[in-house]
Amino acid sequence: MDFHNRHVIITGGSSGIGRAVARLLTQRGADVSIIARRQELLDETVAELESLRENPAQRLMSHSADLTEWEQARKAITDLTANDHPPDILINAAGFAHPGYFEDLPLEIFHTTMDIDYFGTLYTTKVVVPTMIERRSGYVVNFSSIAGFLSAFGYTAYSAAKFAVRGFSDALRQELKPHGIHVSIVFPPDTDTPQLHYENQFKPLETRLLGGPVSATTADKVALAVVRGIERKKTYIIPSFDGRLYFLLFNGPVGLLQWYCDHIIAKARRERRA
Ligand SMILES: NC(=O)c1ccc[n+]([C@@H]2O[C@H](COP(=O)([O-])OP(=O)(O)OC[C@H]3O[C@@H](n4cnc5c(N)ncnc54)[C@H](OP(=O)(O)O)[C@@H]3O)[C@@H](O)[C@H]2O)c1
Repeated sequence: MDFHNRHVIITGGSSGIGRAVARLLTQRGADVSIIARRQELLDETVAELESLRENPAQRLMSHSADLTEWEQARKAITDLTANDHPPDILINAAGFAHPGYFEDLPLEIFHTTMDIDYFGTLYTTKVVVPTMIERRSGYVVNFSSIAGFLSAFGYTAYSAAKFAVRGFSDALRQELKPHGIHVSIVFPPDTDTPQLHYENQFKPLETRLLGGPVSATTADKVALAVVRGIERKKTYIIPSFDGRLYFLLFNGPVGLLQWYCDHIIAKARRERRA
């Protein structure tokens, strides 16, 4: 895929993996818009992107919004896509994780995690999809996690939200494919970002031991896998070898099942038209 003149909206684009993806796509000539809450981080990121621009015509923009709020999510996307600048690619990277023993985690953590990881992803997708259907083209990339297909000790709140992202995205992929819109899901491993540093303060010993001695990868490596995954239109983007192995063990030949489902859906659409 050629990213030149493509408008890519990245939620969580001011930090960690989202920011690393924003850097790569700016270098590849895309118009990049980022959304997050903290204005100072957004400004700092746009300044960095400006220094990486590939051509003077590129539009590099930001919008501050709390994506757990539907109205703010709607306004952010509407403002960023105004003046005939529709979204070609939406990357939902904004996320939050707070591990802990189930009995110690307050209900508020479950709500906050679901609100940003799942509803934040749903809201922005809900805004862009009608335009993409109208244009018969588009791409939605949603961030789950290895914890989004392999639940683990300490992640009752986070795993539930990331499983939700996966379930949502799998169904969405089937519905949008006939409209020429692609959906990918990213399952990153532990990645050295502010989120991981925050999480590490709360991980129970069992969670740390289950994670094993593997050191975290870098946001730049994950971002490169994401960009390559988009270029190849991969349904599941799994940046680590361990992650790919676990995915195979826990999901089996899911590609075959998807092919079968797509075949039935295409048949149903032909019958509806006839
Ligand atoms: N790092 C890992 O080890 C790891 C592993 C697996 C999956 N992931 C997933 O990968 C994605 C990126 O993670 P990361 O580690 O790069 O995180 P990060 O560095 O903490 O960045 C998170 C981004 O999301 C934004 N954000 C958070 N809450 C928001 C809200 N309510 N509204 C709008 N923006 C919000 C943050 O900006 P503001 O705070 O300014 O809003 C920031 O830009 C997340 O979905 C995460 O769950 C990460």
